[in-house]
Amino acid sequence: MKILVVGSGGREHALVHALAASPRVERLWCAPGNAGIAQEAECVAIQADNLRALFAFARDSKVDLTIVGPEAPLVDGIVDHFRAGGLAIIGPTRTAARLEGSKSFAKEFMHKYGIPTARYDVIPNLQKGAYQLTHWTGQSVVKADGLAAGKGVKVCQNQAEAKDFLYQLMEKEIYGSAGSTVVIEECLEGEETTIMAFCDGQTLLPMPASQDHKRLLEGDAGPNTGGMGAYAPAPVVTPELHEQIEKTIFQPFLKGLAAERFDYRGIIYFGLMITRDGPRVLEFNVRLGDPETQVVLPLLDSDLVDVLDAVIHQKLSTVQLRWKKQSALCVVLASGGYPGSYEKGKIIQGLRQKPERSLFVYHAGTQGQGPEIVTSGGRVLGVTGVGNSLESAKDQAYRGVSTISFDSMVYRKDIGYRAIPVSGRVG
Ligand code: AMP
Ligand code: GLY
Repeated sequence: MKILVVGSGGREHALVHALAASPRVERLWCAPGNAGIAQEAECVAIQADNLRALFAFARDSKVDLTIVGPEAPLVDGIVDHFRAGGLAIIGPTRTAARLEGSKSFAKEFMHKYGIPTARYDVIPNLQKGAYQLTHWTGQSVVKADGLAAGKGVKVCQNQAEAKDFLYQLMEKEIYGSAGSTVVIEECLEGEETTIMAFCDGQTLLPMPASQDHKRLLEGDAGPNTGGMGAYAPAPVVTPELHEQIEKTIFQPFLKGLAAERFDYRGIIYFGLMITRDGPRVLEFNVRLGDPETQVVLPLLDSDLVDVLDAVIHQKLSTVQLRWKKQSALCVVLASGGYPGSYEKGKIIQGLRQKPERSLFVYHAGTQGQGPEIVTSGGRVLGVTGVGNSLESAKDQAYRGVSTISFDSMVYRKDIGYRAIPVSGRVG
């Protein structure tokens, strides 16, 4: 099979790495890719948002299957575009991608199909918002409706803070049209976790639960980032809890897809909060998570091509996914200054290691420069360790980190700390 991966981050490198291991793959491209991806696939200089050029490339190169990493092309309708032209592609249609592209749409879907989530209100404009806010006195979470690269959400401690953020979104338009509608919701307490699943619209096959670390600094302090690390499986999701999630979230989700006649042949990401009253959905993403993919795909023992093939042909009910009975942990190495401004073009030392089963370095913001590989983004590398326990996965990952360096490199030293207490034992 000829396969095209769309995107250029660590998630896409993890996809490419898993696909490259399949004997069924004849040719593998990635658009636009990065320096690490270039070692395993042919990089094509087309940006992920250039739907027309991606389609033309896939058609002309006789690509059999395309899979998209980032959300923006999915929300923009890349799937409809490809399928209208007779090309197979993994992902939800534009309508179904609104589950990520519009938070009010997602909340209405959850409400309609009884999927447990935080209580909420949709604010259509600033005037109405001023009145609506009078009902939200304590803590609340204010969210821009549209895509804002993960930045459009603020947990507000009181009404004044909520009012201020609402003003920033609706009057100052800090995230442009993404904030022209706003969702305000109840602030939930508990532990966050992610479950991603392959979905063909009728069957949903979950991957191991994972947890990412969104904050820049140790102890989950500092500003939000695209993710500073992750691990899987997340022990917070016990078998009993998994069963509850299956019943209260996955089943109504599939019912909703069927009732709305959504063509959903792709990946669904459930961002969950495990509260005292049970699991609640914080958000849907209509794609793989980054850096969650870098810890989940290394645990997959099945051939990823077989699974994606079953997604496209709606045969997931016949697939038995196999997972390694191991754990994986990923540490992200970032450029100093990220998520604010940072310098690029720093030479990365220590990348030329022998490949190992228990250690892999996924590239995110990297670029080839003559014989060197240099930094070209905020998140530069994701070092994933795999082991028989989370603790050993962590040891592997940090062993890998210790051999890599670049000017003003930053990373968290406590990835996995919620699941690996100081004593080193889980739970
Ligand atoms: P979202 O993009 O909706 O997942 O929100 C981003 C982050 O904001 C989540 O990962 C949570 O950490 C936090 N968050 C979102 N909604 C809530 C909520 N209702 N209660 C508490 N925290 C939330
Ligand atoms: N790690 C969160 C996301 O991919 O949206």
